[in-house]
Amino acid sequence: MAQAHSSRRVFLIGFMGAGKTTVGRALASRLGWNFCDLDQVIESRERKTVAEIFAGQGEAGFRAAETAALNELLQDPSVRRDLVVALGGGAFAQLRNREMLERAGAVTVLLEAPLEELRRRCSADGTLRPLAGDVNRFAELFEVRRAAYHLAKYRVNTMGKAVEDVAAEIERILTAAMPEVKQ
Ligand code: S3P
Repeated sequence: MAQAHSSRRVFLIGFMGAGKTTVGRALASRLGWNFCDLDQVIESRERKTVAEIFAGQGEAGFRAAETAALNELLQDPSVRRDLVVALGGGAFAQLRNREMLERAGAVTVLLEAPLEELRRRCSADGTLRPLAGDVNRFAELFEVRRAAYHLAKYRVNTMGKAVEDVAAEIERILTAAMPEVKQ
């Protein structure tokens, strides 16, 4: 029973600018599921923006808030079913978060794009990202996180594709892998 519940939550992971939030919304709408952005959950729990948390409590403070928010989301029985979750770019890079997702039987989908494209999207979308300001740091994080990201169950290349096309591709993958997605 618990497994049936957990199989209807999909977590989108990937680097900053991968399109987790926009694709997540489109995917949720195609599936008729709810959508949740973990950064927004953190902001409402902490009553601060992500940038304010980084400024006040540093990255460690943000990571603690992120893990607490993810844990709560995974535990809350009211949000167990039919949910697409966009994780922040660093969430899946943390071992403790990956372990929590693994224990919950979460389905994870990595959204991929080349570094230059990720940088372009981050500059274009107007979101204030504390870890995207320095180009060298951005490139370094991209390399450091690569191995962790590749632990995702599925991978989708987003380069040159429209949001709806990426969402449709994920929907096809999920439907083939988990017939219960289309109940
Ligand atoms: C971060 C990515 C951000 C946000 C925070 C840290 C990261 O989310 O969680 O600024 O460490 O990559 P997005 O990937 O949605 O930009």
